[in-house]
Amino acid sequence: MNMPLSVSEFGIDYALFENVFMLGNGKGGVGKTTLTANAAAKSARQNLPTLAIDMNGQGNMHRDLGYGEQDQGKAFAESMATGAPLVPLQGVRENLDVIVGGPEVRKINGIVNDVARNEGFMAAYLRLAVCLAPLLPRYKAVFLDTPPENPDLLRLCLLAARYAVVPVKFDAASLDDGLKDFGQAFQMAVQVNRQLRILGVAHCFSPRGATRIHTEIEKRAQKTLGKHAYVFPQAVGHSSTMAGLIRDEGKTAYELAQERKAGTRSIPEAAENLAADYEALVTQIFKRASELRQAA
Ligand SMILES: Nc1ncnc2c1ncn2[C@@H]1O[C@H](COP(=O)(O)OP(=O)(O)O)[C@@H](O)[C@H]1O
Ligand SMILES: [Mg+2]
Repeated sequence: MNMPLSVSEFGIDYALFENVFMLGNGKGGVGKTTLTANAAAKSARQNLPTLAIDMNGQGNMHRDLGYGEQDQGKAFAESMATGAPLVPLQGVRENLDVIVGGPEVRKINGIVNDVARNEGFMAAYLRLAVCLAPLLPRYKAVFLDTPPENPDLLRLCLLAARYAVVPVKFDAASLDDGLKDFGQAFQMAVQVNRQLRILGVAHCFSPRGATRIHTEIEKRAQKTLGKHAYVFPQAVGHSSTMAGLIRDEGKTAYELAQERKAGTRSIPEAAENLAADYEALVTQIFKRASELRQAA
C-alpha cells in the first residue's frame, strides 16, 4: 500500500480522536464484541457520554446490549457511501449511543472500493474517520468493534482511532496469526495516523487465576508485536454460562451481577466475577490511555 502521508487535505484533525478506542485482532472469537459492549456500558455508567460502533456484518453487539437488530447497519453503510456523519441510535443506556452494525455493513467493502476508484485510496481509507469526526465533540469515549479477517475494514478502523486494544484468547489462531495480521495492519496505519498506539493486549476467556497462561500471552505478544507490547494485568475469566446469558438477555455482565445481588438466584455467581473482571480491565484501559496521553 502506498499512501501519501498527509491527512490534512481530507480535513482530518487527529486531535479530535483522542478518546477513540478500537478493538481489533486479525481473528474472530477472541472477545472483541463482548469487550466493546461491556467497556462502553461501563464508560457510560461513569457518566461519560459514550459511543459504541459495531462494524460487524454479524452485528452481534445488539445481542450483548439488547437493542434489537434495528436497521441492520443500513444507516452506517449509507453514511459510508456518501461521506455524511454517522447516525447513532440514541439512549441504548443512559449516556450510551450506538452505531448499529449488521448485514448491511457488509456493503462497506464495496463502497470503499468505489471511493478508492473515484477519489483515490487515501479518501477510501479515511472514510470512517471522515464520517466519525463530526460526532466526536459529543462523546468522551468511543469504542469501535472491528470485524475479523477483513483487512480493508480493519484499516478503516485503525485510521479512525487513537488507541488499539487487542483482545486475545489463548490459542494459536488469535495469538500468533491474529496478532501478526493485526501488527502488520497497525504498522501501515501508523504511517498515516501518527497518533495511533497499541494500548495493550486484553487476555480473554481463560480460567480464572491462569497466571501461567497470562505470562505465556505476554511472551507471545512481545514476540509478535514487539518487545514493548503491553498486556493488561486484568484478564477476563472464562464462563460459557455467562456468555450465553449475556447474549440471551442482552445485558452486560455488570447488569446481570446487579440483578443477582438484588436476589435473582437464576443468575450464577460467575456473573459477579465476570463483572469484576470487566470493571478492572476497563479501569486499566482508561488509566493506561491517560498515562500515555500524559507521556505524549
Ligand atoms: N467470559 C466468557 N467466557 C467464555 N466465552 C465467552 C465469554 N464472553 C463471551 N464469550 C463468547 O466467546 C465468543 C467470542 O466472543 P466475541 O466477543 O463475539 O468475540 P469476537 O468479537 O472477537 O468474535 C462468543 O461466542 C461469546 O459469546
Ligand atoms: Mg465480534
